[in-house]
Amino acid sequence: MDVTDALYSRYSTRAFKPDPVDRRIITKILEAATRAPSWANTQPWEIFAASGDVLNRLRVACLENFHNGVTGKSDLPRPQQWPPALQKRMEELAAERSKTAAGMGPDEKSARQAIFEANYRFFGAPVVIYLCMDRTLTPWSIFDIGMLAQSIMLAAQQHGIGSIPAVSLVSYPDLIRKELEIPDELSIIFGIALGYSDAQHLQNKFRSPRRPVQEVVRFKGF
Ligand SMILES: Cc1cc2nc3c(=O)[nH]c(=O)nc-3n(C[C@H](O)[C@H](O)[C@H](O)COP(=O)(O)O)c2cc1C
Repeated sequence: MDVTDALYSRYSTRAFKPDPVDRRIITKILEAATRAPSWANTQPWEIFAASGDVLNRLRVACLENFHNGVTGKSDLPRPQQWPPALQKRMEELAAERSKTAAGMGPDEKSARQAIFEANYRFFGAPVVIYLCMDRTLTPWSIFDIGMLAQSIMLAAQQHGIGSIPAVSLVSYPDLIRKELEIPDELSIIFGIALGYSDAQHLQNKFRSPRRPVQEVVRFKGF
């Protein structure tokens, strides 16, 4: 698979098969992905890869928090508001995705709730990768983590492994820190769930649109 194929075929997988992913494959993915560039090659990432019983214990704990209405609080604060154009795109995405929800269950409300809950079930993924970095680092290092994140997802794609980057995966950092023994000096920036995609699942049929490149790019001097 070439890079362009990987870029176009990747999508956020929201329903995984329960099949485990061999640790050797995850190692290969992370070896390739950590070729990502970073400020002066600082490689600020500390990666925690969870699977099996460890991940399942965490899944149960996160679901319990979710069902008890515990508000998530990621280490990296969530934005409180968005510029109008971005807000509109988020609303359009939600509207499109709820059409998928409409086909999912007896009534739309319970289907939507199931979609929301799936986040805290880690979408049924057998593996979650947590990307961490020293708390004292600046947004420049988060930029490095972002490049690592996309590299992980593209490398996974080459191995036929689906992925989803999700803030919901890091909504309860205290639980993650405890289960994975993540030191306090590390900030848990982001999570990526990995596994074999259940291609037949309605949730995986949805493809998000993109702004046309003519709208996004201002070419100068070509
Ligand atoms: C920083 C970030 C946070 C995200 N958080 C969530 C999330 O909590 N739940 C979810 O279902 N998707 C989440 N996503 C996935 C986005 O909704 C998705 O990437 C976007 O809609 C584009 O769709 P695509 O990944 O299928 O191309 C997140 C993506 C990013 C980059």
